[in-house]
Parts: sequence; structure tokens; C-alpha cells
Amino acid sequence: MRLFIGIEFPVDVITALTVVQREIRANVERGRFKRGENFHLTLKFLGEVPPALIDELAVSLAEAAKHQHPFQLWLGSLGVFGSQPPIRVVWQGIDGELAALCALQQAVDSACAKIGFAREQRAYSPHITLAQDVIPLAGKSVLLQNPVAVSFVVREFALVLSEEKDHKRIYTPIRQFPLLLR
Ligand code: 2AM
Repeated sequence: MRLFIGIEFPVDVITALTVVQREIRANVERGRFKRGENFHLTLKFLGEVPPALIDELAVSLAEAAKHQHPFQLWLGSLGVFGSQPPIRVVWQGIDGELAALCALQQAVDSACAKIGFAREQRAYSPHITLAQDVIPLAGKSVLLQNPVAVSFVVREFALVLSEEKDHKRIYTPIRQFPLLLR
């Protein structure tokens, strides 16, 4: 099973991200835009995981979640990975209690390492992918200047199944882990 661990968003955040996407779309010749129901903030990508490992992984993640506080985030500036067209990823940046977010990402990484997953080698760069393989229109930028003012409280994270169905990527949360520290 192809799995990752991520944070899902309330509906007003999804709506705000869809508005940002629409504005970017007006400035591009082409690009693959993520569907609204697939927006998420990745904490750790696991790749193919044997189904027999899932219960053990879930126990380890639930234990990690017990020691983390809920925290607040909001949408920040836009950014890109790979600035030359086609731009590999156009993403929405995150602001807010980033130390708490990084602590959660570290705790998730450690919980996975206990089950044998390799630790993340790269520095954590929190982002929400909006579009991939983007070619801007001549003279236009995808980096819109006005961030949308929407905040949200992260109270849980999820183990998410990633599947391809009818040529569509479908993400299904299969376990949820509430952050239990008060
Ligand atoms: P993203 O966070 O940049 O969008 C599911 O594939 C999620 O895990 C995606 O959100 C994806 O990228 C993230 N991810 C991180 N590393 C990945 C990798 N090596 N392969 C595929 N997806 C990865």
C-alpha cells in the first residue's frame, strides 16, 4: 500500500486554496492542478508499506501524537520548487506555530523510524502542493502577492492511502491520530 502521513484541512482552508489556484490558473499556459479534496500538508512520505506493518505503525504514531499539542497555522506566501518552466511544483507556504509543526514532523519521523522506516534526510520544508509541471503565460508570474488570510488549528494528523483509480489520484485517510497534550 502506498502511504503517507499528513495533515488535512477544514473546508474554509480548502476553499481558500481553490481560490488561490484559480488565480494562478489565469496566469498559466498549462499545469496539473491538484484537486481540492487532495490538498494536504505532508509530514512524511512512506511509499510502499506492507499491510502487515500498519497496525504496528499506527500504535507508534498514536504514541507520538499523545505527546504533541494542537497548534495554529495559517497560509503564508506562495513558492516554487524548480523555477524554470515547466515549474515542478507551485506551492502554498505555511506560517504560524511552525516550531510546533516541526516538532510534530520530528515526532512522526521518529515514530516511523522505530518501525524501521528510514529517517528523513532533507530539512523539512512545509508546503501545500497546488500545481505541478506549470508553464506560466509569457510575462506572467505564478507567485501571487496577496496571501489569503485564513488560519486553522491542527488537532490531528492522518495515515493516508494513496491510490490511482480511473487515472485519478485518490487519497483516503485510513487512521487518524489526535494530538492529545493540553
Ligand atoms: P508534496 O508534499 O510535495 O505534494 C503523497 O504522494 C504526498 O507525499 C505528496 O503530497 C507528495 O509531495 C509527498 N511526497 C514526499 N516525498 C515523496 C516522494 N518521494 N514521492 C512521492 N510523494 C512524495
